Formats: sequence, structure tokens, C-alpha cells
Amino acid sequence: MYSLLLAFFTGLAAVAAAPDELQVVTTAGPVIGHYAKNGNLTIVREFLGVPYSRPPVGELRFQPPQPPTPWSDPVVAANFGASCWQSPFEVGLIRQPPPSRESEDCLTVNVWAPSKSRATNGGAAVMLWTHGGGFAWGTSETNMYNGANIVRDHEGVIVVSYNKSRLDRMREGDSYSCFSRLNLFGFPAAPGLNATQLNPGLLDVRRAVEWVWDNIANFGGDPHKITIFGESAGSAAIDAYLYFAKNDPIIRGAILQSGAITIPSGSGGEPSRFGPRTMNWNNLSAAVNCPISPAATNLECIRKLPAATLFNATARYNISFAPVADNGTIFSDTAHRLQRGNFARVSVLIGSNDQEIPGASPAAVNATLTGFTCPAAKNAAGHAKFVPTWMFRWFGDFPTYPGAPSLGPYHGTEISNIFGTFNSAIATSEQIASSKYVQAAWVAFAKNPTRGLARYGWPTYNPYRPTLVRLAVNNTAKASFAMPATYHSAC
Ligand SMILES: *[C@@H]1O[C@H](CO)[C@@H](O)[C@H](O)[C@H]1NC(C)=O
Ligand SMILES: *[C@@H]1O[C@H](CO)[C@@H](O)[C@H](O)[C@H]1NC(C)=O
Ligand SMILES: *[C@@H]1O[C@H](CO)[C@@H](O)[C@H](O)[C@H]1NC(C)=O
Ligand SMILES: *[C@@H]1O[C@H](CO)[C@@H](O)[C@H](O)[C@H]1NC(C)=O
Ligand SMILES: *[C@@H]1O[C@H](CO)[C@@H](O)[C@H](O)[C@H]1NC(C)=O
Ligand SMILES: *[C@@H]1O[C@H](CO)[C@@H](O)[C@H](O)[C@H]1NC(C)=O
Ligand SMILES: *[C@@H]1O[C@H](CO)[C@@H](O)[C@H](O)[C@H]1NC(C)=O
Ligand SMILES: *[C@@H]1O[C@H](CO)[C@@H](O)[C@H](O)[C@H]1NC(C)=O
Repeated sequence: MYSLLLAFFTGLAAVAAAPDELQVVTTAGPVIGHYAKNGNLTIVREFLGVPYSRPPVGELRFQPPQPPTPWSDPVVAANFGASCWQSPFEVGLIRQPPPSRESEDCLTVNVWAPSKSRATNGGAAVMLWTHGGGFAWGTSETNMYNGANIVRDHEGVIVVSYNKSRLDRMREGDSYSCFSRLNLFGFPAAPGLNATQLNPGLLDVRRAVEWVWDNIANFGGDPHKITIFGESAGSAAIDAYLYFAKNDPIIRGAILQSGAITIPSGSGGEPSRFGPRTMNWNNLSAAVNCPISPAATNLECIRKLPAATLFNATARYNISFAPVADNGTIFSDTAHRLQRGNFARVSVLIGSNDQEIPGASPAAVNATLTGFTCPAAKNAAGHAKFVPTWMFRWFGDFPTYPGAPSLGPYHGTEISNIFGTFNSAIATSEQIASSKYVQAAWVAFAKNPTRGLARYGWPTYNPYRPTLVRLAVNNTAKASFAMPATYHSAC
């Protein structure tokens, strides 16, 4: 109660004190931001934890996301997200108590926008970040994804990030801070659901894009200039988006870092590595004593159970959920669609890292090749026939990485360089320069997806010409252009 009162009075104080440019009206209601604390205190506006969807709870559990319920008292975008997430469940790597029902509500966005004094004619380009979550999942990642430095260091760009469902399964020991719309909540594949909406977690991506379309102008952005970028499972989600949102993508560019939606073609929508489509759901139903049929009764039974009970069962019985083909959000014939150009015709930047899986062992090299290099290469080659396409390979190996110096340019190491959020206290001048170089490239793409990178000096991708953009080779702050076969010949 005390903290509620405190939040209330803090809210009133914020309303009274906030400069006009920190008060923004969204389609659902007003929000109040603050200036980001990264250097100059008044050039970057920050709005955290703004709901982009109605909480997917109760009857809405497993359903496509809905626009947020309107509010009239301003949401203080400094605290709303934070208080929501700073629950005891997030702390530490040991198993935490099960989360409360409210934890299903995790669909919020963060916006980093330039101050009005830096407004650009026609509105800023928008970079919408889609996080992954395969490796460490903790509070340090939140800082890694902070968009304030990009907006501080470049004119005419806004960064938006959002919490979406993770594509990979939740492991015991993972943070429970945003388990909703991931795992069973995001990828239930329940027989009782609409057959083309078995992956509501992917529809959350669409909802976030729509939120940006509806609202970004009020933050100084141009809704016609949205680029979506993401890494790992976030990149895979974007890849899926390019197919299922093909007729009305809203975005005009996509950046895919180390992740692709590689559902085996011709598998009938039942990717072998995940087991038969409904097995996990039926396992879960059995574990929580819900009848498996009829499907509607089954769904009703599971909807009534507390989220904690369901999550607990998945953890206790080691039941995992991942995206399945449903011909609505993921298509069984994705490979053919790629060949035929049956995807959103927007410019793409696609790539992966030199040593996604650390180490020089044959198994590690093979895992990097088959898990990341080849999916990215196939994706880039397919897109290059239809849309402006660039392909990169990241080599930067810097002491700020967890596990450095022995692990190399592994999965996710490019992210802190793109965001400029590495630990500057231990960064080398090479890293600072390399970060500036790649960050400017990503921004150049976002500002002009058809020509920005050409002007930056990068060739568009052609599998048969030296057009693979190697970044930070030997930790130098530049690009060099290699024959793709140098890295892709075994694909
Ligand atoms: C901060 O930004 C404002 C507005 O752009 C500028 O006038 C001021 O000189 C900057 N201050 C510092 C310390 O960079
Ligand atoms: C996403 O969740 C993390 C962890 O709880 C939180 O710190 C972050 O602010 C959230 N991000 C958004 C965009 O809501
Ligand atoms: C998707 O449609 C294709 C035919 O277009 C069909 O072969 C496949 O079985 C369908 N997959 C699912 C999961 O419904
Ligand atoms: C899930 O169901 C399958 C098929 O009925 C069964 O073989 C498997 O043991 C079950 N797994 C768990 C964890 O209950
Ligand atoms: C979660 O599982 C543990 C045992 O693994 C059990 O003690 C606890 O009561 C369960 N909680 C819920 C809400 O089901
Ligand atoms: C859980 O299942 C995965 C496969 O989905 C398996 O690799 C892992 O060993 C299992 N863990 C336990 C504790 O059973
Ligand atoms: C490389 O990995 C793939 C996918 O896991 C596997 O099918 C293949 O057998 C592996 N090849 C070697 C040489 O280890
Ligand atoms: C990187 O450095 C090594 C050793 O100094 C050198 O052999 C190699 O040619 C360099 N690579 C590039 C692309 O400059």
C-alpha cells in the first residue's frame, strides 16, 4: 500500500514538473517520460514500460494481443515498467518462488527519442529492437539494450524496444520477470486454438509494430520509417514476421542478427526437433489434470489455472514449448516462399558472428556453421534476388565481453557494440572506434534502407562476388569485403 501511495504521489509530482516535451499522448493515454541519464541530461528523452498491449491474461491468455486498455491518468513511464519487473522473482540465478498472476503482463515498450530541440524535418527514423534470450538472461542485458546512446550520438533516429515472448524454452534458473507470452504462453500450439494462430508470441511482434505505427509521430518519429532489428530468437521472430506480415509489413527495413526461422520444409508443420506438435501441450495438460479432449474443454481448464501452476508444471516436468508451423504465423513451406520472393519486400541486413559457439573444436565450428552461418547465408541469398540486401559477419573480439579474452566473437557480442552500451571503463580504443563504425552503419540502414549502406561504402550482397561485409576483423574499425564462399562453402 505504501508503495502504491508513493507511486501515486510521485506520479502527481512528475505531472506537475515535467517539461512539455516529456508529456506525450499515446493512443491509449498520456505518458510522462524523463531525460536519459547518459551524459547530456536534456538531449535524449526516455519513456520506459509503456504498455503496447492489453495484458494477455484470463480469457485473453493464448489469444492474439489486443490494443491496450485506455487510461486517463498519465502513466509515469519512469516507474511503471520498473515497478512491474522489480519483483523478487527476477533476483539471482537460483530457482525463485513462482511468479504471481500479474507477471503474465509483460507487454511494454521503451522509447528513446531525441529532445524536441533536435527534431528532424519529417520525423526521425525508428529502430525497433527485438531482444533474444538464448544465453544469459538477466538484468545486465537490460542495460545492453538501452537505446539512449544511439539517440545521443546520432541525429534523426528514435530507438524503441519491447518485451516480447522468447522463442526458446525457459530453463529453470532463468529470470521469471517476463515469462508471459513465451514458453507455453507464447507458443502453446494448443489444439483448441485457432489453427493459424498457434504462436501468439509472434503476434506480439506485430502488435509492437502497430503500436509504433500508431504512436511514434507523437514522440517525434515518422511511422513510415520503421526498421525492425533483433538478435537470436529476436531475429528469428523478425524473420517469421517478414513472411506472415508480407502484405502489410508497415516496416521498411529489417536487420537480422544471428537468427532465422529455420522450420524444415515439408515436415508438415511438425519440426522434428520439437517433437509432434501437440505432445508438449498434452504433456502439460496431463501434468495439471486437465482433460486432453474435447479441445475446448481442455483450453478452458488450462485458462482457469494460475500462471504459476502452469509454469511450475513445465519446470517440474521439463516440458518445453517452441514455435510450430501453423500456416498463419509460421509457414511449413518457408523455404519455398524464400525462393519465390513470397515475403515482405523490404530491404534487409542479415548476418551472424564469426564464432557464435565459442571455441575451435570441430563441434563448435560445425555448430556455428549449421546453426548460424548457413541459415543467414541462405536467407541473404534468397532475399538478394528480390530486395536490397546486405550481409555482414562480425569479428570484433573485445575485453568487455563476458568470458573474454578466451571466447572470441561469440553469440550476441555484436549487440553492445551496436548499442554502444559496453563497459566503457574497460573498453579499448579499438572497441570504441569499432562500435562507432557499426553503430553508424545500422543507423545509416535505418535512415535509408535502400541506399544508406551503399553510401556507407558497402556493396549489396551477391553470393558470387566479394560482397560479404566483414566487420571489425582484427578489431579494426572498418569493413572489408570477402567472397561469401570463404565462409559459406560448406553450407
Ligand atoms: C547539452 O545539449 C544542449 C542542447 O543540445 C546543449 O545546448 C548543451 O551545450 C549540451 N551540454 C553539454 C554538457 O554537452
Ligand atoms: C523487459 O523486462 C525487463 C526485465 O524484467 C525489464 O527490465 C525491462 O525494462 C523490460 N523492457 C520493456 C521494454 O518493458
Ligand atoms: C501448410 O500448408 C501446406 C500447403 O500449402 C501443407 O502442406 C502443410 O501441411 C500445412 N501445414 C500446417 C501446419 O498446416
Ligand atoms: C509426453 O507425452 C509423450 C507421448 O504421450 C510421452 O511419451 C512422454 O513421456 C511425455 N513426457 C512427459 C514429460 O510427460
Ligand atoms: C511448484 O512446485 C513445487 C515443487 O517443485 C511445489 O512445492 C510448489 O507448491 C508448486 N507451486 C505451485 C503454485 O504449484
Ligand atoms: C529436459 O529436456 C531436454 C530436451 O527437451 C533435455 O535435453 C534435458 O536433458 C532435460 N532435462 C532434464 C532435467 O530432464
Ligand atoms: C554438424 O551439425 C549438424 C547439425 O547439428 C549435424 O547434422 C552434422 O552431422 C554435423 N557435422 C559434423 C561433421 O559434425
Ligand atoms: C589480421 O591479422 C592477421 C595477423 O596479423 C593478418 O595475417 C591478417 O591478414 C589480418 N586480416 C585482415 C583481414 O586484415
